[in-house]
Amino acid sequence: MLHSMKPAPRVRQASLKDLSVLVRHRRAMWEVLGDFPSRRLDRLDRIYRTWLRERVSAGVAAAFIADASTGNPVASGVVVLVRLDPSPRDPAHLNGVTPNIISMFTDGPFRRRGIATRIIRRCVTWSRRRGYRRVTLDADPDVAALYRKAGFSRTWWMSKALRS
Ligand SMILES: CC(C)(COP(=O)(O)OP(=O)(O)OC[C@H]1O[C@@H](n2cnc3c(N)ncnc32)[C@H](O)[C@@H]1OP(=O)(O)O)[C@@H](O)C(=O)NCCC(=O)NCCS
Repeated sequence: MLHSMKPAPRVRQASLKDLSVLVRHRRAMWEVLGDFPSRRLDRLDRIYRTWLRERVSAGVAAAFIADASTGNPVASGVVVLVRLDPSPRDPAHLNGVTPNIISMFTDGPFRRRGIATRIIRRCVTWSRRRGYRRVTLDADPDVAALYRKAGFSRTWWMSKALRS
């Protein structure tokens, strides 16, 4: 029996023209990850849009988008250089700057087709080309397998919520 073969979505580097898609995907990610009030997400959309525009413009972040054959953007992810403490782990980290992957999202019907994996790969390549030898991310435990399969291993980064 012949199976209908849908062409694989094409992954490309996003430009500032794609900001609205990137903000929408980021919001959709948070809607999956938690029960956040929509007013807070509305505010976050505006803040994230400015935050991302500044970083992409400055060349310290890159976003990758997967377009379906219809041209519809169906997945995206972002890599951004973050400033941590200077570390001796490798020469590129002596200044404490580390590429960090954020905002991973794939539309429901397009999941489990390897699209997020391809976006992660593009983020890693972007980082490697800039001389970095380590990439970090904050994984949701439910999807940790995605990152493990892409070669990430667990660290013991910890956090504590502070109550007023
Ligand atoms: C997480 C997400 C980005 C994965 O996108 P995707 O395009 O489906 O990922 P891939 O197809 O590249 O997945 C590759 C592998 O990762 C693992 N994986 C992906 N999604 C998973 C999930 N929801 N649960 C468990 N394992 C998952 C699987 O091992 C999968 O391989 P398989 O399909 O052969 O079993 C997508 O499910 C999503 O947008 N979820 C909601 C937002 C979110 O959780 N973002 C990540 C926050 S850290």
